[in-house]
Amino acid sequence: MSQDEGKRRSGDKAAEYVTDGSIVGVGTGSTVAFFIAALGRMKDRIEGAVSSSERSSALLKELGIPVLDLNAAGMLALYVDGADECDPQGRLIKGGGAALTREKIIAEASEKFVCIIDASKQVPVLGKFPVPIEVIPMARSLVARAIVRLGGQPVWRDGVVTDNGNWILDVHNWQVTDPVGLERELNQVPGVVSVGLFARRGADVVVVDGVVRGG
Ligand code: 5RP
Repeated sequence: MSQDEGKRRSGDKAAEYVTDGSIVGVGTGSTVAFFIAALGRMKDRIEGAVSSSERSSALLKELGIPVLDLNAAGMLALYVDGADECDPQGRLIKGGGAALTREKIIAEASEKFVCIIDASKQVPVLGKFPVPIEVIPMARSLVARAIVRLGGQPVWRDGVVTDNGNWILDVHNWQVTDPVGLERELNQVPGVVSVGLFARRGADVVVVDGVVRGG
């Protein structure tokens, strides 16, 4: 199966978790684009979506799906998003599309997080994919030095500005054996806005190539 076909099947499968009349949390990326297309086909059955990026908001609006404010929506029943890596416990690396902060907020505000991936995203240990970290621009070097002390190699994603006006450091060469501990430690560095490790709040359900893992 091609990677694209795996993404499409996962996006379609996630639509089965959407309940009538609900507001759906929507992530960002090429896999989520398939989910948004599926949502478009059932748009009359939902109230709207809370979006994690300007990119996803544009796709949702193109299909006539109302994009709602999380503050007004309250807790969501469902959040659907992709990932760059997923370990056997459903802990993730996210942020390849630089949308990690809003993604993390919506994941936290949702009762169920359904992560949709193709088989290439599955790993035994997180860290082959560089870990994205969103930083306040003036803190870039400070945070980079803290990362080096923690054994990583930070690379500034030059030219990329997040939807929140911040910058991204991609951390290479980290074998993330304790994702919860590393996420906690990084969150304490002043200037870190959010860490692309979704470990403390990982996925509740993982869909791989359209099939629910362990389901
Ligand atoms: C964006 C993300 C995406 O979910 C992640 O990069 C996967 O993207 P894709 O579905 O295009 O492979 O975290 O910030």
